[in-house]
Amino acid sequence: MAVPTLPLSDGTQIPSLAWGNGTGDAKKTATESGRLAIKVGIRHIDTAQGYENEKETGESIAIAEKDNGIKAGEIYLTTKLSTEKGDPTNPGISLEELRHSVRGSLQRLGRQPNLVLIHNPFVPPKGKLVEFWKILEEMKDKGELTASLGVSNFRPQDFEELLPHCKYPPVVNQLEYHPYVLTHLQPVLDIMEKHNIRVESYGGLSPLLRHPTGGPIKPLLEKVAARLSKESGKDVDAAMALILWQRSKGVVVVTASGNAERIEKLSLTQELPDLTKEDVDEIESVGRKIHYRAYDEHMCVDFPAPDLPKDA
Ligand SMILES: NC(=O)c1ccc[n+]([C@@H]2O[C@H](COP(=O)([O-])OP(=O)(O)OC[C@H]3O[C@@H](n4cnc5c(N)ncnc54)[C@H](OP(=O)(O)O)[C@@H]3O)[C@@H](O)[C@H]2O)c1
Repeated sequence: MAVPTLPLSDGTQIPSLAWGNGTGDAKKTATESGRLAIKVGIRHIDTAQGYENEKETGESIAIAEKDNGIKAGEIYLTTKLSTEKGDPTNPGISLEELRHSVRGSLQRLGRQPNLVLIHNPFVPPKGKLVEFWKILEEMKDKGELTASLGVSNFRPQDFEELLPHCKYPPVVNQLEYHPYVLTHLQPVLDIMEKHNIRVESYGGLSPLLRHPTGGPIKPLLEKVAARLSKESGKDVDAAMALILWQRSKGVVVVTASGNAERIEKLSLTQELPDLTKEDVDEIESVGRKIHYRAYDEHMCVDFPAPDLPKDA
């Protein structure tokens, strides 16, 4: 199976589906579930310093490559420079510590990642984002770090601070992304579109898994899933339809599972077609009228949420 990829602004390609090991059972079973994700065809693994499993991530990729005859370089690996334990309210990384911190990740992973993200805007010391970024650019120029550079949970003000000074502009912004945060995200999405910065989603299944009722997009997703099941002969559920909605928007989907059957379903989405434009637009226009966010602490500081209902 050819794994779908998307181009990034630095000329590299990124697999459009990633399995992350920062949440839920996927985090608890990072090694076994990571190996299974690769075995069933997922080619992008998302980890972070803050998940405290970079070593296990590197080891599970090495074992999965060996067991499945996968060529070196075929697995795309993302890590993130984090605040302590990945919690944005914990201390970040000082300018003096940064090189050492990056080297620590390289050592734990046992390989060069393909993408390194600043996990949230609170990782660099306040007012030092540009200096922080310049150190990463210098590590790239020296060949010490070969990864693409990106960011996560960046708000409009973070891009305004960083973008005028970049030699290597961020290639992605990884954020909670689904129909119920689109209205809130619009100002940041506008900046990203202008600068060719791709969206990576996390928490993309929140409308179905975390919203109290699923809200008004749930029946639309169930309808799409029923049609895709009929057309493909596979068992497509609403969660898979929501992943396809994200991919149809040109988003790199970072999802997770610690359950073997669901990991296979996530991989299966790679073989399914994009949604029709009508389906994508309908889900989006209904979703935009709601505001529901699962990960408040990552994005909402000094970036207020819109005054919209949580449900229809
Ligand atoms: N940059 C950041 O600040 C940030 C923040 C949060 C997350 N992340 C990254 O994004 C990854 C995913 O985050 P997330 O957990 O919020 O993503 P998500 O895609 O919203 O949810 C993943 C959850 O969906 C469940 N699931 C998977 N397939 C399903 C299906 N077909 N039907 C029903 N449930 C299904 C899984 O539970 P089971 O295990 O029970 O299958 C899993 O816990 C993390 O692991 C991490 O790598 C990044």
